[in-house]
Amino acid sequence: MNEIQQIKLYRCDEIFCIVDENDGNLGEGSYGKVRLGFHQKYEHIAVKCSEMKGGRREKNLVEKKIKKEIGHLQQANHENIVRVYGWTNWPGAVAIIMEYLPAGNLKAILMDEDIVLGPLLRARFGEEIANGLAFIHNLFDNKRLLHGDIKPENILMTEDLHCKIGDFGAAQLSNYTGSTTTPRHRDLRSAQMTLLYAAPERLQNISTKLTPKYDTFSFGMTLHMILAREMPIDAGTPVQTFSDRIIEGQRPSLESIQTYIGELEVEGQDDDAAVIRFLKEEMTRCWQQDLADRPTMTEVNEHLQSQLRNRDLNVFHKLVYDASKDLCLKKPSFVQNDNLPINRFCPPGFKVHGNVFKALVKKQCCTIRKFCNTNGIVCVTIYCFFLLLI
Ligand SMILES: Nc1ncnc2c1ncn2[C@@H]1O[C@H](COP(=O)(O)OP(=O)(O)OP(=O)(O)O)[C@@H](O)[C@H]1O
Ligand SMILES: [Mg+2]
Repeated sequence: MNEIQQIKLYRCDEIFCIVDENDGNLGEGSYGKVRLGFHQKYEHIAVKCSEMKGGRREKNLVEKKIKKEIGHLQQANHENIVRVYGWTNWPGAVAIIMEYLPAGNLKAILMDEDIVLGPLLRARFGEEIANGLAFIHNLFDNKRLLHGDIKPENILMTEDLHCKIGDFGAAQLSNYTGSTTTPRHRDLRSAQMTLLYAAPERLQNISTKLTPKYDTFSFGMTLHMILAREMPIDAGTPVQTFSDRIIEGQRPSLESIQTYIGELEVEGQDDDAAVIRFLKEEMTRCWQQDLADRPTMTEVNEHLQSQLRNRDLNVFHKLVYDASKDLCLKKPSFVQNDNLPINRFCPPGFKVHGNVFKALVKKQCCTIRKFCNTNGIVCVTIYCFFLLLI
């Protein structure tokens, strides 16, 4: 774990947890929670906390997994990869400190029907993900980084709807002969989601080594979701059945994409229809059954870039503007000075011990005091009554 020594270890009491209306929760995964935090230098940050529980072996496993993820992220310094600032730890936990992406993950944006996503914006999503993947696949002369878990939930979005690849928890460093580090264990929930984007060679045999063409396949499935704006699996189909079909060579339905192309043509938007048709062809190239038939991510990236080159920048400006209107940006407006340092805050499963409880009580008292100053004794009585009720 030499990589971790190169990146900054922050003291846990410099990282504050923001408790907003969503309880400061950005996401949840197999190892813990991703929390919205605050640091004086970076302002808002995302803190991916992992609980270290169980015996020494289990704790070592979690620490090793987190350190590996930090090491990978640190090596992948690129505009389409989420930036890592450092890490922190406190008794019972270890956490990655990352840049905060206020528009959340791509899946949430795609599944929100109120958000208008024009064809060229979708092409830009594809191109930026491909750009990030091509970068990690060509990291060094003798080494490449494979992501291993490309899916819309792992693509994080900036305020202006640019894509950054996140979650390097399944990533592996490989040399060009293909030997990799040992794949880590992933729990069933996380694995089940990932199965929807997994290539047939690994669905058939999970110990098959990770290759760049595995990421190409998952990219193809992600592109499907970008175009169809629906999950690759039909509601009611068991994941196992879906996986069996992928192994046999079947792929998700193209119906929604065809309908979308048809609608654009009826509206006379032939250029837009051509963009979607082009992306659809790229998608089918990427999810070929045979690895040799799938393009490298460098090829995909060049191909997608050729579609976007020489486009009027104002077009993108307008597309982002239209999409942002219904986007709910999770940017908190201010930081209260009574937010708790992260070590005082408890991720799930963490025991609420004495000082956390005291800190929470202090926070409540502080709120009452503020309330009292502005609204007088009557409101305080109502507030206390309300507190008793909940
Ligand atoms: N930097 C960030 N900014 C904003 N939201 C984030 C950030 N990182 C993660 N999230 C949110 O948290 C969710 C889970 O994050 P991530 O994918 O890294 O964890 P995970 O799936 O639990 O990881 P693992 O598979 O390694 O256990 C994301 O889908 C996203 O919604
Ligand atoms: Mg994830």
